[in-house]
Amino acid sequence: MNDRDDSSEEVARAFRGCPVLVTGGASFIGSHLVDALVSAGARIRVVDDLSSGKLAHIRRHIDSGAIEFVRADLVDPRVAAESAAGIHTVFHLAANHGGRGYVDLHQADCATNLLLDGAVFRACRLAGVKKVVYASSGCVYPNHRQTDPAEWLFLSEDQVGPPYDADNMYGWAKLMGELSLRAYHRDYGLKSVSCRYFTVYGPRGHENHAIMAMIARAFIRQDPFEVWGSGRQVRNWTFVTDIVDGTLRAAARIDDARAVNLGTRERISVIDAVRQVLHITGHRPEIRLRRDMPIGPMNRVADSSLAERLLNWMPRVRFDDGLRTTIDWYVTTHGRNDVAARLAHRLTER
Ligand SMILES: NC(=O)c1ccc[n+]([C@@H]2O[C@H](COP(=O)([O-])OP(=O)(O)OC[C@H]3O[C@@H](n4cnc5c(N)ncnc54)[C@H](O)[C@@H]3O)[C@@H](O)[C@H]2O)c1
Repeated sequence: MNDRDDSSEEVARAFRGCPVLVTGGASFIGSHLVDALVSAGARIRVVDDLSSGKLAHIRRHIDSGAIEFVRADLVDPRVAAESAAGIHTVFHLAANHGGRGYVDLHQADCATNLLLDGAVFRACRLAGVKKVVYASSGCVYPNHRQTDPAEWLFLSEDQVGPPYDADNMYGWAKLMGELSLRAYHRDYGLKSVSCRYFTVYGPRGHENHAIMAMIARAFIRQDPFEVWGSGRQVRNWTFVTDIVDGTLRAAARIDDARAVNLGTRERISVIDAVRQVLHITGHRPEIRLRRDMPIGPMNRVADSSLAERLLNWMPRVRFDDGLRTTIDWYVTTHGRNDVAARLAHRLTER
């Protein structure tokens, strides 16, 4: 058995029979996390208001009795308190969140995450929860560090600090969530870890995120094919099962409220990702650059060395493989006419 298998076994042991709460468990990432926790034998409660999550993602676990599902709004402190009661580990993924178009165009809605996170963390402390695992984001990194796509840049955890310069209200709220957890750890000893996810993609993803938007455009044979910005923006798209694996390892191993990046070091520009999607789908459209649309930072890629060191975590799914899996899922679960009718709306909404 290699190191990686040892770690997976450690994770399974950590959660077997453990009462866990997954907030936002009907979401894209949350539902994959629930799949893994069911496999590990955890006792799972999911609380989700279904504002963007889908019951279909976790239906089979509800029907089989493997999870308890509660549809409720965690901004309400009473809901937060009831949700945290009797729970050992809370995976807090619920958020008012979307892709680049959403977070740029819905600042006030993203600000509600301050209330949501505050209600959940306070409830965790009062209920005696042993560990909080927080879905943070690459959006906490300073915008001013991420402007040059030609720079060979890997964002390391220590680059988040004064002067803070987070990405939109969404990024500020995630940053405040991280800092709140640090305060709870210092003042009350509440154990936690913040997992900074970087541009996650995979089956069950939503078209408001870039890769899913590219796949949707290829699926409906969009021509001209729209690309937001110059296409030179660099990202490190990270496959959802790798994110879940890193989240579980962080939950099992980190207690001291520190933040850890979960993101691959594969640097890929938007235009190269588009070319790969077009190659796989066999679509040959004219490309139209939409420089008027939200583009986000020009260069955002994680340094994953802390996760490698502390968690023995390495992303297993290469971009090309993850992309093929995601395209297969998309084309077998969607209808062309339906996507064509709703795509414009879905690019900027939740
Ligand atoms: N997808 C990414 O690339 C990415 C990157 C960084 C961080 N994250 C974070 O990961 C988490 C999961 O994101 P996702 O992409 O899977 O999808 P998502 O944003 O749709 O997930 C949010 C979930 O929370 C639920 N929710 C929202 N407000 C709620 C409330 N008040 N009460 C109860 N439930 C509520 C939604 O219905 C949804 O199921 C979020 O916290 C998000 O900020 C995602």
